[in-house]
Amino acid sequence: MDKRFYITTPIYYVNDVPHIGHAYTTLACDVLARYKRSCGYEVFFLTGTDEHGQKVEKAAIAAGETPLELADRVMQRFQALWDKLNISHSDFIRTTQQRHKLGVQEMFKKIQAQDDIYLGSYEDWYCTPCETFWTETQLMDGCCPDCGRTTEKLKEESYFFRMSKYQQQLIDHIESHPDFIQPRSRRNEVLSFVREGLRDLSISRTSFSWGIPVPGDDKHIIYVWFDALNNYITALGYPDDINGNFAKFWPASVHVIGKDILRFHTVYWPTFLMAAGLPLPEKVFAHGWWTVEGKKMSKSLQNVVEPNMLVEKYGIDAIRYFLLREVPFGLDGDFSHNSLIHRINSDLANDLGNLVSRSTAMVNKYFGGTLPAPGALAQEDSNFIQLFGEKFALVDRQMNDLAFNKALQSIWELVSAANKYIDDTAPWALAKDENQKQRLGTVMYNLIEAVRLVGLLASPFMPDTAERIMEIIGQNEPQTLEHDSAWGCVKGGTIIEKTAPLFPRIETT
Ligand code: MSP
Repeated sequence: MDKRFYITTPIYYVNDVPHIGHAYTTLACDVLARYKRSCGYEVFFLTGTDEHGQKVEKAAIAAGETPLELADRVMQRFQALWDKLNISHSDFIRTTQQRHKLGVQEMFKKIQAQDDIYLGSYEDWYCTPCETFWTETQLMDGCCPDCGRTTEKLKEESYFFRMSKYQQQLIDHIESHPDFIQPRSRRNEVLSFVREGLRDLSISRTSFSWGIPVPGDDKHIIYVWFDALNNYITALGYPDDINGNFAKFWPASVHVIGKDILRFHTVYWPTFLMAAGLPLPEKVFAHGWWTVEGKKMSKSLQNVVEPNMLVEKYGIDAIRYFLLREVPFGLDGDFSHNSLIHRINSDLANDLGNLVSRSTAMVNKYFGGTLPAPGALAQEDSNFIQLFGEKFALVDRQMNDLAFNKALQSIWELVSAANKYIDDTAPWALAKDENQKQRLGTVMYNLIEAVRLVGLLASPFMPDTAERIMEIIGQNEPQTLEHDSAWGCVKGGTIIEKTAPLFPRIETT
C-alpha cells in the first residue's frame, strides 16, 4: 500500500487577520495529518498565505503600507496562531516567495505553449472582495451573486485560459471519481454548474500591479486564483523538484477547503492541471461555515471570534475538540460560548476527565500506584476489550471520510463504556474482599489499558492531553496507532500517577 499522504489547507488572504473560520480548516487538516502520521504514513501537510491580488493591494493602501509590509505583518499572525494551536504543518508557503513565483510562471508558460492560453479582451463585472468576474446575467440586482456586494464594470486586455475546452473532460472525471468532490451534495452542485457550460477564463489583469508578471508581457499580472491555486504544487518544488517532493507527494490526497471556494478548486484548478498534463488531486473536501451566536461573522457586527482569546480562556485542546466535535464536517455550524462550555464540562471534565481520575485514583488506593498484571478474563472483560477493536476499525473509516465529529463520537463511546465498566465491575466492592484481589487487579489493568487506548485515539485531536494521559499512566515512549493499537501493551508493574483533574469544570454564573 502507498503510505504517502499530502494534505493542504487553503492559503489565507493577508488582508484579514485569522479568526475561527481559518482556524477550523487548519485544525481539521492538522488532525488528519497527525492521524495519518500515527498510522505510519509519510505526511506532507501544507498551509500558507495568499499575498497577491487587488484585495491585498487595497488593504495595504488603506493601512498606509506596501503590500509586502502588510503581508509580512499578517503572515506572522497566522504563523503565531498555528504555533499556539499546535499545528504540525510540514511547510508554510507564501505566494510572494521566489519558489512560488517561478513555479506559477512555469505553469503559465506550459499551458501557453500548448495553445491553451490566448490574448483577448473582456468587458465584465468584477467583484473585488471575491476577486471574480461575473457576466451581466450572473449578477443579482447588479451585485455579486456570491457575496452580494457591488461590482464594477471593467474592460481590459487579458490572457484567457481555454477552460471551455476541458468541460467534457472535467465532467467525465467527476463522474468516474465519486470521491473527488466531497461531501456528495457539493459534487452535485459542481456537476450542474459545469454542465451549464464553461467559459474561457480571464487569467491576467492590467488594472493593478500587485501580482506575478505574465512571462514575456509584464504589463499583465497573473490572476490571483491562477497564482494561488498553484501553491499546492510550487510548495512541493514544481517544476524543478530538487527535493523530490513533487514526485513523491503529488497528486494531493486531499485539499480541504471552505464551501465558498469550491468552484475554484473543483473547476478552475482541475482544468489548469489537465491543460498542464498533471494528475488531479484525489479529493477536494468542502466544509461548512461557522456563524457566531446565530449571526454571520463580520467585522461590521464586531462578532469575529478571535482564536487566541479562546485558547487563553479555555485551553488549546478544548478548542480543538469543540470545533471538530460540535458540527459534522461539511455542514454549517454555530459557535456559542454556551455550547463550548457545555461540551467542556460534559465531554471533557465529566466523561474523559473522570475516567482518568477515577481509574488512576483506584490503582493508587488499592495497589499503592503499581499496576498489577491482569489475571483471567471474565465475559464482561472480553466484551469490553472487543469493543475497542471494533471502534478502532470504525474510527479509521470515519477519519478517512473526514467525519471528525463521528470519529470523536466513537471515541467517546469508548469513554462511556469504560465509565460503565467501572460501575458494572464495582471495584470498591471487590476491594472489600481479600479473595477478589486478583479480580480487582484485572479490572484495574483493563481500565488503565482502556485509558491508554482512548488517549491514543484522541491524540490527533488533543495532542497535549493525550501526552499528559500517557505520562500519568507511565507510558513514556511515544506511541503510534500503527504499532500500539492492540490491547495489552501496558505492562504489569507500571507506576500510575495520582493526578489533578485533566479538565477543571468551567463554572457559569
Ligand atoms: N485565499 C483564498 C484561498 C486560496 S486557496 C488556493 C481564500 N482565503 S480566505 O482567507 O478568505 O479563506 C480561507 C478559508 O477560510 C476558506 O476555506 C474559507 O472557507 C475559510 N473561512 C473563512 N470564514 C469562515 C467561516 N466563518 N467559517 C468557516 N470557514 C471560513 O479564500
